[in-house]
Amino acid sequence: MSASFILTEIRAATMKPGDGSYGLIEDAAIVIGDGLIQWVGPRQDLPTRYANAARKPQNGGLATPALIDCHTHIVHGGNRAREFEMRLNGASYEKIARAGGGIVSTVSATRLQTEEMLLEQALRRADALIAEGVSTIEVKSGYGLDIETELKMLRVARSIERQRPVTIRTSFLGAHAVPEGYEADRYIDDVCLPALNAAHAEGLVDAVDGFCEGIAFDTSQIARVFDRARSLGLPVKLHAEQLSNIGGTALAAKYGALSADHVEYATDTDAAALAASGTVAVVLPGAFYTIHETNLPPIQAFRDHDVPIAVATDWNPGSSPLGSLLLAMNMACTLFRLTPAEALAGTTRNAARALGLEDRGTIAPGLRADLAIWDVSEPSELSYRIGQNPLTGHYFGGVRCN
Ligand code: NIG
Ligand code: FE
Repeated sequence: MSASFILTEIRAATMKPGDGSYGLIEDAAIVIGDGLIQWVGPRQDLPTRYANAARKPQNGGLATPALIDCHTHIVHGGNRAREFEMRLNGASYEKIARAGGGIVSTVSATRLQTEEMLLEQALRRADALIAEGVSTIEVKSGYGLDIETELKMLRVARSIERQRPVTIRTSFLGAHAVPEGYEADRYIDDVCLPALNAAHAEGLVDAVDGFCEGIAFDTSQIARVFDRARSLGLPVKLHAEQLSNIGGTALAAKYGALSADHVEYATDTDAAALAASGTVAVVLPGAFYTIHETNLPPIQAFRDHDVPIAVATDWNPGSSPLGSLLLAMNMACTLFRLTPAEALAGTTRNAARALGLEDRGTIAPGLRADLAIWDVSEPSELSYRIGQNPLTGHYFGGVRCN
């Protein structure tokens, strides 16, 4: 049992569900002990049992749940700056992918790197997120597309957690692209499913993801991967309806997926299906922006059907070289018209749900004491600023890490 302490001189955006906003408490007290939030409320209501606990005044800062980046590809080799240039000279993301660039070119770079090399770069990316108050990062495989490299990526992802104050959740993304020399179904049988079995046996997989798209895998191929996930007892999620609508969102809903991600081409019917299955819609404005997408995700349909919306960086070398979750929040507001309260819910409460984590994402008794403290006068400032980081304090499991 570690001694409790109390954060005072602080406002708290608890992100408590239900009130559609921040769950703001002015002049709050947050009691932390044993790595957990023990109590939160207006300071004047602090129970007398905490009268002797140490106080840590926070200078009027705003506490939020620590941020959660629920969709990243931060383990990868190389970069794709040349494709950025090609797109600005008129080539589309899809055209580059079909010409052998895109995901497959990052696969070559990732296969060439050792675990140590990949880890060094992944730690730098994780550090950039942690510096913005991020305490939980989802990391996908999917740039290996052979058994050995898929396992290598997932081992590197797990290593991040041993070296930094952060929780890593891994997603196996073997069905990310069809590697050269393969036909999609044979790749699923010969590589993807055996890699999933091996990665699961090594304890490397928290969830199973896929890319359901004309340039990747169709719904029946993804269904085969999801069936295997189900038989292994693993939850699923899906890159769905990013460039076109081929039924990925409906499939994700059918399998009770944790999340359907991108969803620019999802429909009102898809939104109703996500609501029925309790699946989170993860919007990724960095990818929308980078590939010059113009079709907006159906945010109003998500609201109308009560689909929880999360926001993530999708940090990857091709479609979203975005290393800032705060900027993703700003972009979600400006590009997708999320409100700042929705953007913050999208990187806290709903991001936790997109990862199946029930022990974090709001400031409430019994949850992990993962907190970010900001020098802002109101919560909307977190989304309003562009390229500025107002973080002044950061607790990971009740331990100060910034
Ligand atoms: O989330 N959509 C597929 N996967 C990634 C793109 C990865 C890449 O282009 O390297 C995404 O956007
Ligand atoms: Fe992605």
